[in-house]
Amino acid sequence: MKNWVKKSAFVLLSAGVVMQTTAPVSMAAGTTSAQPELSSPETKIITAAHRGASGYAPEHTLLSYEMGEKMKGDYIEVDLQMTKDGELIAMHDETVDRTTNGTGLVKDMTLEEIKKLDAGSWFNERYPQYAKPEYAGLQVPTLEEIFKKFGRGAQYYIETKSPGVYPGMEEKLLELLEKYKLTGENGCSSHVLIQSFSPESLKKVHEMNPSLPLVQLLWYDAPASISDVELEDIKQYAIGVGPNFAKIDQAYVQKVRDHHLLIHPYTINEKEEMRKALEWGVTGVFTNFPDRFNEVIQEYKSQK
Ligand code: G3P
Ligand code: CA
Repeated sequence: MKNWVKKSAFVLLSAGVVMQTTAPVSMAAGTTSAQPELSSPETKIITAAHRGASGYAPEHTLLSYEMGEKMKGDYIEVDLQMTKDGELIAMHDETVDRTTNGTGLVKDMTLEEIKKLDAGSWFNERYPQYAKPEYAGLQVPTLEEIFKKFGRGAQYYIETKSPGVYPGMEEKLLELLEKYKLTGENGCSSHVLIQSFSPESLKKVHEMNPSLPLVQLLWYDAPASISDVELEDIKQYAIGVGPNFAKIDQAYVQKVRDHHLLIHPYTINEKEEMRKALEWGVTGVFTNFPDRFNEVIQEYKSQK
């Protein structure tokens, strides 16, 4: 499935690497907190159902998330945007244009307006091989609806999108996590991982709740490299990184692991690439096809 990555307002960190920011970023973060350890080489490899099982169903709909759960995704990946009236909704883009039958910026629309939109028919038209009648007319879910439906039995990998556009986004997110008792441990992992391209947004989350595990997203437009200093800076506040898979290599993965950080590349949809990622030592992936990655993990384990 095509990945419509639209990046804006990035700050250059080193050759070819960017993190999203709204102001100059000091990576020498003052934020420190107890970070969960990357336990051992046996660390569970996680499957993040990217926008749900979005290869098979319209992204960021409850049906897509449900399918991700059925396909044994460990985490439901949720991208957040915020409406004019301050409601957090699940949507990748700042506009509703691509994934609904509407047009306009989410920040200029009320939740009531967004709820009137059809968030499924576009998928049937674009991907007839996966089309289903029940996708037509699906609504854009709020984060609260997602928590109500999947509760504490699920794990969520939540991205603060465009935090500079949405003042108060982190506060609202924390409010909902607390309301639905999702800030703590879930067995040997956590109910949520919070991810962002914006270090400022992640640090804001930590100022409010230092125990929430954070993942720094990274995007490279050239073959990726990352310095020891950058990794140690990220380690001051995050437990892992999420780079775009297309630009990394085995040395990059090894370097991240050497710094005892998790590495969850995005977005890996082909089995061959999934196998390669496992060989390189990633600790999880974002995929639109969680069933495929779980098959690859099983094959990989049986060969070891
Ligand atoms: O969150 C991981 C990955 O989803 C980041 O890229 O643009 O798909 O949100 P994007
Ligand atoms: Ca995302």
